[in-house]
Amino acid sequence: MKMIKNMVIRAVLAMAAPLAAEETAADSNAAPAAPAAPAGAQEIASGICAGCHNPDGNSVIPMNPILAGQQAEYITKQLMDFKATETEPAKRNSPVMSSMVAALSQDDMKKLGEYYAQQKTVPSQVAADEKLLETGKILYHGGNIEHGVPACASCHGPNGSGIPPRYPGVAGQHAEYTLTQLNLFNTGDRSNDSNVMQKVVSRMSAQEKRAVSAYISTMR
Ligand code: HEC
Ligand code: HEC
Repeated sequence: MKMIKNMVIRAVLAMAAPLAAEETAADSNAAPAAPAAPAGAQEIASGICAGCHNPDGNSVIPMNPILAGQQAEYITKQLMDFKATETEPAKRNSPVMSSMVAALSQDDMKKLGEYYAQQKTVPSQVAADEKLLETGKILYHGGNIEHGVPACASCHGPNGSGIPPRYPGVAGQHAEYTLTQLNLFNTGDRSNDSNVMQKVVSRMSAQEKRAVSAYISTMR
């Protein structure tokens, strides 16, 4: 299975590379135009990533994150973190994504970040319980002073669009994906956050994690 995936990745990359070279050559005598999708990124996105994240990064499967409109630097960092090197294991653990990034170069990852950042977000459409949303809203904007949970808004912004380059946007993300990440930070299975998120979630109850994930999915 893994071998087949790697073969598919190599085939798509082989197709993308000559295209990228042509576009660069053409660009050098053309006037600067509106920001185009970085050469090669779209081919990789529609050839390899689309099955799970959709061609424009607006995944409709709640377990797969929406990438459209996310900050370029954050996406590139995650792709690099998913990749193990010869000497070091991957900083972010995901059996699915580690095989996806195996054949990507650092330059591919940078271009993919720019590509998804340029796409327009189609936020999650899953309905949630009103009371849960209210709890989540209070926590997101005000934290929980009694238990030392900081307001999410202080790092992810009052409207959830994040603060580049370090703090990712969260608005409109699928609740199921967000909750999974909060739980992974909590168990330490995701630890590529310099211990920032791990500390935040260690003070949250299971109900608070559910509530804030639901609220985030409704942010626009
Ligand atoms: C087979 C399904 C699948 C394919 C194909 C796939 N992904 Fe993913 N991707 C996932 C899942 C599932 C996660 C969540 C991983 C986790 O944290 O457990 C994810 C996470 C990510 C993240 C992290 C997002 C965030 O908000 O932190 C990025 C970036 C990403 N994928 C980019 C890509 C790119 C680029 C490709 C193509 C080269 C790709 N993915 C192909 C399933 C897939
Ligand atoms: C002190 C700053 C800070 C605060 C407060 C904070 N976060 Fe974060 N958060 C981060 C950073 C930094 C990352 C990116 C980690 C990385 O690089 O992988 C992150 C990542 C995340 C992610 C992963 C996003 C993705 O696409 O995979 C989620 C979900 C998240 N935070 C939710 C929350 C929630 C909910 C709260 C409030 C309860 C919160 N954060 C409070 C700094 C913060």
